[in-house]
Amino acid sequence: MRNLKSKHNKWEDHYSRQAKKEQFPARSVYKLKEIQQKYKIIKKGDRVLDLGCFPGSWLLYAADLTGEKGKIVGIDLKPLSKSVLLKLPANTKTYVCDVLSIDEKDQKIIKAVGKDFNIVMSDMAPDTTGNKNVDAARSFNLCRAALSIAEDLLVDGGSFVCKIFQGEDFKEFIDLIELNFNKYKIFKPQSSKKSSKEIYVVGFEKK
Ligand SMILES: C[S@@+](CC[C@H](N)C(=O)[O-])C[C@H]1O[C@@H](n2cnc3c(N)ncnc32)[C@H](O)[C@@H]1O
Repeated sequence: MRNLKSKHNKWEDHYSRQAKKEQFPARSVYKLKEIQQKYKIIKKGDRVLDLGCFPGSWLLYAADLTGEKGKIVGIDLKPLSKSVLLKLPANTKTYVCDVLSIDEKDQKIIKAVGKDFNIVMSDMAPDTTGNKNVDAARSFNLCRAALSIAEDLLVDGGSFVCKIFQGEDFKEFIDLIELNFNKYKIFKPQSSKKSSKEIYVVGFEKK
């Protein structure tokens, strides 16, 4: 038991320490880095929509990859800290809104910023309850909302990255992905806790 605990802490320390060292606000950045290393989804000049962008690690990393000719839009329930906003380049815009209830005003703002995104990515996670079925159902709800946004705002041929907590709706989500994308992969990054039900679905070539 003691061994298991110290192993787990060591794992946490590694990614947290690395994030601190590289000045990312969260170690979740390494999950996107692994996805990028494997599938090369983000390219220079791309337009990227990041759903669930707080505290901003994915935004910082994506902004670096797309460069000054790219465009990044982030959405979250929570506003980013001033220190993170200061680090983001001018071609990044962030909005505080709930993807489960995007009203007409929010829609207009997002569309005005750009609707032809090359990549829509969602690292959204619900507040967890400890009940795996409830958490997975809430995650599925967020994934459906993210996919519906991707359907509207992704260019044909664009890519979609989405975190989901595996549960009984997982197969239904994959069916929806198959309907909307020519190819897809399911990926568990090494930086994602083995004990976590989270997994990433990457859709390629939006139909
Ligand atoms: C794991 S964090 C994302 C971390 C981020 N990718 C990063 O690297 O900094 C998940 C985020 O999803 C957001 N979220 C959850 N439900 C949401 C919703 N309905 N609308 C918008 N954002 C939501 C949460 O507020 C939280 O900040």
